[in-house]
Amino acid sequence: MYDDRCIAVYDSGAGGLNITKRIRERFKSEDIVYFSDRKNLPYGDKSDGELRRIIENNIRKINGFCPKLIIMACNTVSLAVREYGISSPVMLLGVYPKVKNNKKTLLICTERTAKSDCVKELLRENKSLTVSPQRGFAEEIEKYLAYGVLPQIKERFKGFHDEFDFVSLGCTHYSHMKKEIGKIFNRAEIIDGADDTFLSAERYLKTNPSREKEGKIYFTDKNYERIWAAL
Ligand code: DGL
Repeated sequence: MYDDRCIAVYDSGAGGLNITKRIRERFKSEDIVYFSDRKNLPYGDKSDGELRRIIENNIRKINGFCPKLIIMACNTVSLAVREYGISSPVMLLGVYPKVKNNKKTLLICTERTAKSDCVKELLRENKSLTVSPQRGFAEEIEKYLAYGVLPQIKERFKGFHDEFDFVSLGCTHYSHMKKEIGKIFNRAEIIDGADDTFLSAERYLKTNPSREKEGKIYFTDKNYERIWAAL
């Protein structure tokens, strides 16, 4: 059985482009709608009420594209959806912070993610976990992708020594800086919850494939079409 409906990928901005790329390379027949919400970026410093209103509104709009699957390619959105109990008529697949039990792990994420119930729970369960909210980093990465201004990564992480076994990227924007972050924490392995999301999407699409055709990609904001072409 084929399912020719599109897949929607949702992020505040460019954070979801990497997982989109992997899906596009692996499933060439799938149509993809890349839904970004640049006017409300950053999500990471929004109040609960505001973020909830924004996400509910966007999930309603995304369902208007009649997708078969919505990938919330954003940790902040995924955790908020879980916490606020937001539902959708179509399956929602999220990105969640990944940690390694009993290994010295540094989780870098947005302020909203750092305050989430999920991260509080992770901290209770993992004594070797350090959480570091990164104010303004997602916006710097947006600027980098749009205008090529490289973020001051050394400055940003200067308080840390290379004492971690793992550095976990808890915001999908940070995966655009994976190499640069890896150079700062050169003893650590960089891990990313989006890898697990890709595997779940892969499992889903293997059983709900689109008919053999040339898949198309549509950007709700043309700004990301340009960034996509340069990735
Ligand atoms: N890319 C989003 C995430 O994974 C957040 C960026 C933002 O603050 O808007 O958390």
